[in-house]
Amino acid sequence: MPTRAEAEIVERFTDRYRRCCGEPVLAMEHEVLGSDYGSTGYTTRAQADDLAAHLRLRPDDRLADIGAGAGWPGLYLAAKTGCRVVATDLPFAGLRRARARARDDGLAGRAAFLVATGPRQPLRPGAFDGVVHTDVMCCLGPKLSVLRACRRLLRPGGRLAFTTIHAAPGLDARQRRRAHRAGPVDVATRADYPTLIDRAGFTDIAQIDVTRDYAATQRAWYEANERRADAIRGLTSDAEFARAQADRRRTADAIAAGILRRSLFTAVRPRQGPTTGSRGECSRGLDQLRGTAAGEPLDDADEVRVFEARDEEGPAVRPPLVGADLVSLGLGVRTAGC
Ligand SMILES: C[S@@+](CC[C@H](N)C(=O)[O-])C[C@H]1O[C@@H](n2cnc3c(N)ncnc32)[C@H](O)[C@@H]1O
Repeated sequence: MPTRAEAEIVERFTDRYRRCCGEPVLAMEHEVLGSDYGSTGYTTRAQADDLAAHLRLRPDDRLADIGAGAGWPGLYLAAKTGCRVVATDLPFAGLRRARARARDDGLAGRAAFLVATGPRQPLRPGAFDGVVHTDVMCCLGPKLSVLRACRRLLRPGGRLAFTTIHAAPGLDARQRRRAHRAGPVDVATRADYPTLIDRAGFTDIAQIDVTRDYAATQRAWYEANERRADAIRGLTSDAEFARAQADRRRTADAIAAGILRRSLFTAVRPRQGPTTGSRGECSRGLDQLRGTAAGEPLDDADEVRVFEARDEEGPAVRPPLVGADLVSLGLGVRTAGC
């Protein structure tokens, strides 16, 4: 069963992924980020190129994009570098968009999609050359568990690169509360990110401050929404539009006050050191997936297309098939140690 926080994320983002890929939302994304995948974050195209460079992705490398949403930036990175990508997230609606985009972009044989929660990735440990996630850590609670899951996915020497929004260091309690109110739902952390990344077992940790770009994109989202206010209200409601714009203003004010930041972090899984948790338990997790009605058979061959979450398009068949996928292939699967 999903945790309550996971269920809330599914609800919150499903709506957004249902709306993300029609006009005028895609037009705004293109204007603000330079992408057109249905992003719900702040990663600009230039930052996606930076992520590719930090990950040193090469053709046929394996990349995991955690919290991949509608496929940005994982699918872009696959198209740009020739790598293969497994995109995982909780809301099926985003992955469905991502899968359609992969087909349109001719990536069908190089992209796979999996409903899975951040801390429990039912994928083969050590199978990935790179792991990426963008603006995911600030949306979930178990941050150290997710970073550990990323480490387990990576081969020795494999690289992690991610962006996240976070409170500035050195704030007093009142400023911190304000930063947390102004940021995404789980922006608060128990320790700073370099400490968390270190605790998760990474080395070569680097932090690049991208707050200036964050301020610009936040402002640009606000202005783009204002210009298309009627169309966006039509997709949501007057109240929802007003609330979202007020949130954007509050966030922009907090960034301008220097209390909210966004950073790009990079790190490497050490070549030496303990391997990836308990392989026995991971195998049991994979066995659970093997043979499920909706999933393709999993094997331990060098095949990155581990599993493609499937449903038939359209609401008529959606409840039983997607429901079964969510339960048997993501939220219900416990892969202790994976
Ligand atoms: C701000 S969106 C970013 C999506 C995409 N990476 C992008 O940049 O457009 C955050 C994503 O994190 C995902 N997420 C939140 N909590 C999660 C969890 N516990 N496990 C997996 N994904 C999660 C959400 O479903 C959402 O797609």
